Amino acid sequence: MLQGKVLMITGAASGIGEAAARLASGYGAQLALVDRDADRLAGVAKACGDALAIPCDVTDAQGIGRAVADTERHFGRLDGAFDNAGVEQQGAGMFPVDAYPMADFDRVLGINLRGQMLLLAAQLPALRRAGGGSIVFTASVMGLFGQPGMAAYVASKHALAGLAKVAALEGAKDCIRVNAIAPGAVRTPMLTERAFPQNPGYEAAVAATHPLGRLAEPSEIAEAALWLLSDRASFVTGTVMPVDGGYSAV
Ligand SMILES: NC(=O)c1ccc[n+]([C@@H]2O[C@H](COP(=O)([O-])OP(=O)(O)OC[C@H]3O[C@@H](n4cnc5c(N)ncnc54)[C@H](O)[C@@H]3O)[C@@H](O)[C@H]2O)c1
Repeated sequence: MLQGKVLMITGAASGIGEAAARLASGYGAQLALVDRDADRLAGVAKACGDALAIPCDVTDAQGIGRAVADTERHFGRLDGAFDNAGVEQQGAGMFPVDAYPMADFDRVLGINLRGQMLLLAAQLPALRRAGGGSIVFTASVMGLFGQPGMAAYVASKHALAGLAKVAALEGAKDCIRVNAIAPGAVRTPMLTERAFPQNPGYEAAVAATHPLGRLAEPSEIAEAALWLLSDRASFVTGTVMPVDGGYSAV
């Protein structure tokens, strides 16, 4: 499905990004894998054939510029990007709007929104040089609905959905498609290692908000992202696609 495509995947050391890297490698893509966790990233890259591992924080504009330049130098071009790296709120915590710790608000927005803007700034010129391409953001159902206590995360993902639409409208003339996926709850370390352990009963409660009655596996989300990155989705742009076990149908 992705034979010969050169793709960048951010947040590739864990969860959804790692699943996407492993699947994309199997579908024939050549991969530049980006994450701030260099050790885990190296392990994933090793499992993905000739993948290029690029340790980088997506809040670092210069680092991102180097990552895109290294990818073009190594593979000759860039055809698409799964801009997936993101973070949850401090301590996976819930905070009312009027008591939200502003340093954490800035951190979450800095990675989940500003970081994606920096990625676009470096990736769009590369896609133009390649004659077009596809970008997919990982938003969330929290980019479609509100959730008490989650001001920073919800605001960041709503804004990301808007950013995808603007970039899609601007990119269309250059054959660049931009979409976001909106996953429901996914069985990744963000939930299993950080959110669930400190809230007994939270996992069952979260599963119950999805009509399919369970969390997604990371590969179920990655499949949707890779389809959007592929030429099979050639007429799909500017969408925010739920991949949510029916969460948004209720
Ligand atoms: N797990 C869920 O239920 C869920 C649901 C909807 C959306 N999402 C989104 O999916 C994306 C992936 O999350 P996940 O669930 O796989 O979590 P995860 O914590 O397993 O993986 C996130 C990866 O992103 C990397 N990362 C974080 N900040 C970074 C930065 N500043 N620079 C570079 N790399 C950075 C981490 O090192 C990690 O490897 C995130 O954008 C998240 O908001 C997750």
